[in-house]
Amino acid sequence: MSETAAQRTTPGTDLTITSSDFTKIHFTHEQIQARLAEIGAQIDSDYAANPPLFVGVLKGAVMAMADLQRNVTLPIETDWMAVSSYGSGTKSSGVVRILKDLEADLLGRDVLIVEDIIDSGLTLSWLLSNLKSRGAKSVEICTILRKPEAAKVTIDVKYVGFDISNDFVVGYGLDYAERYRNLPFIAVLAPHVYSE
Ligand code: XMP
Ligand code: MG
Repeated sequence: MSETAAQRTTPGTDLTITSSDFTKIHFTHEQIQARLAEIGAQIDSDYAANPPLFVGVLKGAVMAMADLQRNVTLPIETDWMAVSSYGSGTKSSGVVRILKDLEADLLGRDVLIVEDIIDSGLTLSWLLSNLKSRGAKSVEICTILRKPEAAKVTIDVKYVGFDISNDFVVGYGLDYAERYRNLPFIAVLAPHVYSE
Protein backbone atom coordinates (compact mmCIF):
# COMPACT_ATOMS: atom_id res chain seq x y z
CA MET A 1 0.00 0.00 0.00
CA SER A 2 1.33 3.40 -0.92
CA GLU A 3 1.66 6.20 1.59
CA THR A 4 -1.05 8.82 1.12
CA ALA A 5 0.81 11.99 1.52
CA ALA A 6 4.04 13.16 2.38
CA GLN A 7 6.85 13.52 4.70
CA ARG A 8 5.27 15.98 7.09
CA THR A 9 6.82 18.95 8.67
CA THR A 10 4.65 21.72 10.11
CA PRO A 11 1.53 22.79 8.21
CA GLY A 12 2.24 25.60 5.83
CA THR A 13 5.80 24.66 5.17
CA ASP A 14 6.91 22.80 2.08
CA LEU A 15 6.15 19.13 2.10
CA THR A 16 8.18 16.56 0.30
CA ILE A 17 5.82 14.48 -1.77
CA THR A 18 6.87 10.88 -1.79
CA SER A 19 3.55 9.45 -2.89
CA SER A 20 2.78 8.29 -6.40
CA ASP A 21 -0.91 8.93 -5.62
CA PHE A 22 -0.61 12.49 -6.98
CA THR A 23 0.56 13.75 -10.34
CA LYS A 24 1.13 17.30 -9.11
CA ILE A 25 0.43 19.80 -6.36
CA HIS A 26 -2.12 22.17 -7.80
CA PHE A 27 -2.20 24.73 -4.99
CA THR A 28 0.15 24.94 -2.06
CA HIS A 29 -0.99 25.70 1.45
CA GLU A 30 0.49 29.19 1.08
CA GLN A 31 -1.38 29.88 -2.17
CA ILE A 32 -4.66 28.80 -0.58
CA GLN A 33 -4.09 30.96 2.50
CA ALA A 34 -3.20 34.01 0.40
CA ARG A 35 -6.39 33.66 -1.64
CA LEU A 36 -8.53 33.18 1.48
CA ALA A 37 -7.07 36.37 2.95
CA GLU A 38 -8.22 38.25 -0.16
CA ILE A 39 -11.68 36.70 -0.08
CA GLY A 40 -12.00 37.33 3.67
CA ALA A 41 -11.25 41.02 3.18
CA GLN A 42 -13.80 41.16 0.37
CA ILE A 43 -16.45 39.54 2.59
CA ASP A 44 -15.68 42.05 5.36
CA SER A 45 -16.36 44.89 2.96
CA ASP A 46 -19.35 43.35 1.12
CA TYR A 47 -21.22 42.35 4.28
CA ALA A 48 -20.17 45.18 6.64
CA ALA A 49 -23.79 46.21 7.25
CA ASN A 50 -25.18 42.67 7.61
CA PRO A 51 -22.80 39.99 8.86
CA PRO A 52 -23.78 36.73 7.15
CA LEU A 53 -24.50 33.24 8.36
CA PHE A 54 -21.77 30.99 6.98
CA VAL A 55 -23.14 27.61 5.94
CA GLY A 56 -20.36 25.08 5.53
CA VAL A 57 -21.05 22.05 3.40
CA LEU A 58 -19.69 18.98 5.11
CA LYS A 59 -17.30 17.38 4.87
CA GLY A 60 -15.30 18.99 2.10
CA ALA A 61 -15.57 22.59 3.30
CA VAL A 62 -14.20 22.00 6.80
CA MET A 63 -10.72 23.34 6.05
CA ALA A 64 -12.05 26.24 3.97
CA MET A 65 -14.54 27.25 6.68
CA ALA A 66 -11.89 27.21 9.38
CA ASP A 67 -9.33 29.21 7.41
CA LEU A 68 -11.74 31.59 5.69
CA GLN A 69 -13.48 32.53 8.96
CA ARG A 70 -10.14 33.46 10.50
CA ASN A 71 -9.80 36.05 7.74
CA VAL A 72 -13.18 37.63 8.43
CA THR A 73 -13.50 40.18 11.23
CA LEU A 74 -17.30 40.64 11.11
CA PRO A 75 -19.42 38.97 13.81
CA ILE A 76 -20.55 36.17 11.52
CA GLU A 77 -22.44 33.04 12.57
CA THR A 78 -21.69 29.50 11.52
CA ASP A 79 -23.80 26.48 10.71
CA TRP A 80 -23.23 23.22 8.87
CA MET A 81 -25.07 21.10 6.41
CA ALA A 82 -24.19 17.73 4.95
CA VAL A 83 -25.49 16.72 1.54
CA SER A 84 -24.53 13.90 -0.71
CA SER A 85 -24.43 13.81 -4.47
CA TYR A 86 -21.43 11.53 -4.83
CA GLY A 87 -20.87 7.99 -3.69
CA SER A 88 -17.26 7.07 -3.19
CA GLY A 89 -16.57 7.47 -6.90
CA THR A 90 -15.56 10.47 -8.96
CA LYS A 91 -18.74 11.20 -10.96
CA SER A 92 -21.71 13.27 -9.81
CA SER A 93 -24.92 11.30 -9.49
CA GLY A 94 -27.04 14.47 -9.66
CA VAL A 95 -29.14 13.11 -6.81
CA VAL A 96 -28.86 15.21 -3.67
CA ARG A 97 -29.75 13.93 -0.23
CA ILE A 98 -29.63 15.90 3.05
CA LEU A 99 -27.51 13.91 5.49
CA LYS A 100 -27.43 16.65 8.15
CA ASP A 101 -29.65 19.71 8.15
CA LEU A 102 -29.03 23.23 9.47
CA GLU A 103 -29.90 24.27 13.01
CA ALA A 104 -30.32 27.96 12.13
CA ASP A 105 -33.55 29.59 11.03
CA LEU A 106 -32.79 31.25 7.68
CA LEU A 107 -35.74 33.63 7.67
CA GLY A 108 -34.50 37.09 6.70
CA ARG A 109 -30.83 36.05 6.92
CA ASP A 110 -27.96 36.78 4.56
CA VAL A 111 -26.49 33.35 3.93
CA LEU A 112 -23.07 32.54 2.52
CA ILE A 113 -22.63 28.91 1.48
CA VAL A 114 -19.02 27.74 1.71
CA GLU A 115 -18.15 24.84 -0.59
CA ASP A 116 -15.01 22.94 -1.43
CA ILE A 117 -15.59 22.57 -5.16
CA ILE A 118 -18.17 23.20 -7.86
CA ASP A 119 -17.99 20.52 -10.51
CA SER A 120 -21.22 20.03 -12.50
CA GLY A 121 -22.90 22.58 -10.23
CA LEU A 122 -25.83 20.23 -9.63
CA THR A 123 -25.28 20.02 -5.86
CA LEU A 124 -25.02 23.78 -5.45
CA SER A 125 -27.94 24.62 -7.65
CA TRP A 126 -30.10 22.27 -5.58
CA LEU A 127 -28.75 23.73 -2.34
CA LEU A 128 -29.31 27.30 -3.50
CA SER A 129 -32.99 26.78 -4.18
CA ASN A 130 -33.41 24.73 -1.02
CA LEU A 131 -31.96 27.49 1.21
CA LYS A 132 -33.80 30.27 -0.65
CA SER A 133 -37.08 28.44 -0.10
CA ARG A 134 -36.52 28.75 3.66
CA GLY A 135 -36.96 32.53 3.46
CA ALA A 136 -33.33 33.70 3.46
CA LYS A 137 -32.92 37.33 2.43
CA SER A 138 -29.93 36.43 0.26
CA VAL A 139 -28.00 33.26 -0.50
CA GLU A 140 -24.52 33.60 -1.98
CA ILE A 141 -21.73 31.11 -2.63
CA CYS A 142 -18.05 30.96 -1.82
CA THR A 143 -16.15 28.01 -3.26
CA ILE A 144 -12.47 27.20 -3.04
CA LEU A 145 -12.41 25.53 -6.45
CA ARG A 146 -14.55 25.60 -9.58
CA LYS A 147 -14.30 23.47 -12.72
CA PRO A 148 -15.83 25.67 -15.46
CA GLU A 149 -15.50 22.95 -18.14
CA ALA A 150 -17.60 20.55 -16.07
CA ALA A 151 -20.55 22.92 -15.53
CA LYS A 152 -23.95 21.46 -16.37
CA VAL A 153 -25.90 24.34 -14.85
CA THR A 154 -25.03 28.01 -14.61
CA ILE A 155 -24.67 29.29 -11.08
CA ASP A 156 -23.86 32.77 -9.93
CA VAL A 157 -20.87 32.37 -7.60
CA LYS A 158 -19.86 35.42 -5.55
CA TYR A 159 -16.41 34.22 -4.43
CA VAL A 160 -14.19 31.70 -6.25
CA GLY A 161 -10.81 30.67 -4.90
CA PHE A 162 -9.46 29.20 -8.12
CA ASP A 163 -10.80 27.94 -11.43
CA ILE A 164 -9.28 24.61 -12.44
CA SER A 165 -9.49 22.17 -15.33
CA ASN A 166 -11.34 18.87 -15.14
CA ASP A 167 -8.71 16.91 -13.17
CA PHE A 168 -9.90 15.09 -10.07
CA VAL A 169 -8.31 16.83 -7.12
CA VAL A 170 -7.87 15.90 -3.47
CA GLY A 171 -6.63 17.52 -0.30
CA TYR A 172 -7.58 20.53 1.80
CA GLY A 173 -10.92 18.88 2.63
CA LEU A 174 -11.43 17.14 -0.70
CA ASP A 175 -11.47 13.38 -0.65
CA TYR A 176 -11.28 10.32 -2.75
CA ALA A 177 -13.23 7.59 -0.90
CA GLU A 178 -12.75 9.61 2.32
CA ARG A 179 -8.97 9.74 1.99
CA TYR A 180 -6.65 12.72 1.49
CA ARG A 181 -8.90 15.30 3.22
CA ASN A 182 -6.12 16.03 5.69
CA LEU A 183 -3.60 17.23 3.13
CA PRO A 184 -2.81 20.93 3.67
CA PHE A 185 -2.48 21.42 -0.11
CA ILE A 186 -4.61 20.57 -3.16
CA ALA A 187 -3.19 17.91 -5.47
CA VAL A 188 -4.23 16.15 -8.66
CA LEU A 189 -5.03 12.52 -7.97
CA ALA A 190 -3.17 10.08 -10.20
CA PRO A 191 -5.63 8.14 -12.40
CA HIS A 192 -4.23 4.80 -11.22
CA VAL A 193 -5.72 5.46 -7.76
CA TYR A 194 -9.31 5.55 -8.97
CA SER A 195 -8.99 2.99 -11.75
CA GLU A 196 -7.65 0.33 -9.38
P1 XMP B 1 -21.25 18.80 -8.41
O1 XMP B 1 -20.90 18.00 -9.65
O2 XMP B 1 -22.65 18.54 -8.00
O3 XMP B 1 -20.32 18.16 -7.31
O4 XMP B 1 -20.92 20.25 -8.59
C1 XMP B 1 -19.89 18.84 -6.19
C2 XMP B 1 -19.32 17.86 -5.20
O5 XMP B 1 -18.62 16.83 -5.88
C3 XMP B 1 -17.42 16.49 -5.24
N1 XMP B 1 -16.32 16.69 -6.20
C4 XMP B 1 -15.04 16.42 -5.98
N2 XMP B 1 -14.44 15.94 -4.89
N3 XMP B 1 -12.35 16.09 -6.00
C5 XMP B 1 -13.09 15.76 -4.91
O6 XMP B 1 -12.51 15.32 -3.91
C6 XMP B 1 -12.88 16.58 -7.13
O7 XMP B 1 -12.16 16.86 -8.10
C7 XMP B 1 -14.32 16.75 -7.11
N4 XMP B 1 -15.18 17.22 -8.03
C8 XMP B 1 -16.40 17.16 -7.44
C9 XMP B 1 -17.36 17.38 -4.03
O8 XMP B 1 -17.81 16.65 -2.91
C10 XMP B 1 -18.31 18.51 -4.30
O9 XMP B 1 -18.89 19.04 -3.15
MG1 MG C 1 -16.72 14.81 -1.67
